[in-house]
Amino acid sequence: MKIILMGGPGAGKGTQAGPLVERFGIPHISTGDMFRAAIKNGTEQGLKAKSFMDAGGLVPDEVTIGVVAERLAQPDCVKGFLLDGFPRTLAQGTALAEILDRLGMKLDGVINIEVAEDVLIPRLTGRRVCRQCGASYHMVFNKPEKEGVCGQCAGELYQRSDDNVETAKNRLLTYNNQTQPLIDFYQKQGLLITVNGGQAIEQVFTDILKALG
Ligand code: AP5
Ligand code: MG
Ligand code: ZN
Repeated sequence: MKIILMGGPGAGKGTQAGPLVERFGIPHISTGDMFRAAIKNGTEQGLKAKSFMDAGGLVPDEVTIGVVAERLAQPDCVKGFLLDGFPRTLAQGTALAEILDRLGMKLDGVINIEVAEDVLIPRLTGRRVCRQCGASYHMVFNKPEKEGVCGQCAGELYQRSDDNVETAKNRLLTYNNQTQPLIDFYQKQGLLITVNGGQAIEQVFTDILKALG
């Protein structure tokens, strides 16, 4: 299974990615998670990425494409992968097609989690993330059983530095300007699967599985 998860900031990509990669036994490749790990480790790449992420913009294509090309060439991707948050620009979409071509791989589908804009900002500002395993929670919509503690690994929950109202609004603008055109790009290739991300988390998962057959 070789799939892409698309959707605006807070659409539920990370939330759906967890059970999907478990179901299909494939690696979860999230460029956002990779950049956050680089920042935490204090690498040069992390330092460069941080300013773009804090502003709600995009890390430059050449950096992001290089990171993904390297990751997809790893042996665990042979049986499939789930890309979360990549591609995000037409240039990244074109580069991905070339990378997959070189590796002799073909995409099975591009899942677009569609959510109304006014729902996205409260999702982001109320989100809490596990420091240890990366699981997403929400103060209102998806509460952890014990406040501040991950239900899956007992890790500590924290708030992402880009989950404030101002940065969230910029991320939404960036998505509309730079990422939306990819929906058309994949629609034309007959790969686009749109699911209603405004439903309960479990229902969105059921719809994705159904659409993937
Ligand atoms: P990234 O980490 O990918 O952030 P994002 O795209 O803004 O998406 P999020 O992770 O915020 O949202 P999500 O869809 O995963 O939502 P989640 O499931 O957590 O990227 C961060 C930054 O890195 C970017 O801004 C950019 O700077 C850089 N970057 C990354 N990739 C890049 C690329 N390819 N090129 C260039 N730069 C790149 O859910 C959100 C909240 O809602 C949670 O609290 C959750 O519990 C809740 N929730 C989820 N589903 C539901 C539901 N159905 N009902 C109610 N609540 C729900
Ligand atoms: Mg995410
Ligand atoms: Zn955890």
